[in-house]
Amino acid sequence: MSTLLAIESSCDETSAAVCVDGQILSNFIANQTVHEQYGGVVPELASRAHMQHIVPVVDAALAQAFPLLPTPAERLQKLDAIAFTQAPGLIGSLLVGTQFAKSLSLSLNKPLIAVHHMQAHVLANLIGEERPTFPFLCLTVSGGHTQIVLARSPLDLEVIGETIDDAAGEAFDKSAKLLGLPYPGGPLIDKYAKEGNPLAFKFAEPQIPELNFSFSGLKTSVLYFLQKQEPGFIQDNLADICASVQYTIISILLRKLKKAVQQTGVRQVCIAGGVSANSGLRKALQEAGVKHGWETFIPKFEYCTDNAAMIAITAYYKYQAGEFTDLSAGPSARAEW
Ligand code: KG4
Ligand code: ZN
Repeated sequence: MSTLLAIESSCDETSAAVCVDGQILSNFIANQTVHEQYGGVVPELASRAHMQHIVPVVDAALAQAFPLLPTPAERLQKLDAIAFTQAPGLIGSLLVGTQFAKSLSLSLNKPLIAVHHMQAHVLANLIGEERPTFPFLCLTVSGGHTQIVLARSPLDLEVIGETIDDAAGEAFDKSAKLLGLPYPGGPLIDKYAKEGNPLAFKFAEPQIPELNFSFSGLKTSVLYFLQKQEPGFIQDNLADICASVQYTIISILLRKLKKAVQQTGVRQVCIAGGVSANSGLRKALQEAGVKHGWETFIPKFEYCTDNAAMIAITAYYKYQAGEFTDLSAGPSARAEW
């Protein structure tokens, strides 16, 4: 039995969730709109926004989880442990969540659980009823990472392929920027792509060995393509350009996923991370599942982009395994597992 509070603050979303015996009771997310005007996340502004959001977000998560307990103090007393995202991410952002969790742990005298953000994205697939059994493969695609992970058990995850340069989310966001779309451009490319022809324009697909990815060439390919066009071309062809860029990114991802299934023999396939919210990728995975006989899983939309529920479910398994950390635990920007 465990009642856990989890805090996520690795990038530009402040989130808190409560998990009781592996069931998510609440998951609050405060988005930071301040970055839109700068075309990307500004680390200093992200840290400040986390400072503003963290208390109300934690309060809201506890209040929703324990509606019959009238005061924050009573709700906090229900907790068995406090979990937080330790790495990777923006160091100033991580510091806010880490320090908050450590302060709570110290004042409540409850144990602390440190969670790796990328492992949590994978384990988001274990939230809810429809979930994969082990072993499964997970394509984790976010703004900072692109990985294929072999999950043997909740705490035995191995990265078997990853990007050697840009992440898939960056490929979306940087292409969107070239098209004059605001940050983050991924969801907008998704939106416009729905009206466009994915085969209208052809962009370069890299030939990278093994199960690794590369997306920096795609950005350059889009840039050179746009430079050759007449003024007004983007406006007149926005849907077709978006559909073609999205098609290329999905095709790069699916090709390596297929290869991973062939190499490992594992046929349960999940996706995770912010880019797994992409409607084209979700459809392509389902179609690949039908075509190749894979069982496919996609987390609910709210568990794809950054959220504390995925930190909470990971903490649930760590709690069972007795994997606690002490107050000396600090955040790390680096991605090593
Ligand atoms: O996992 P996430 O929320 O944060 C990181 O840990 O990076 O991922 C954010 C990324 C951004 O690059 C954003 O553009 C992308 O996910 N994204 C999408 C969609 N929704 C979010 N990309 C394509 N289509 C979407 N619908
Ligand atoms: Zn993420």
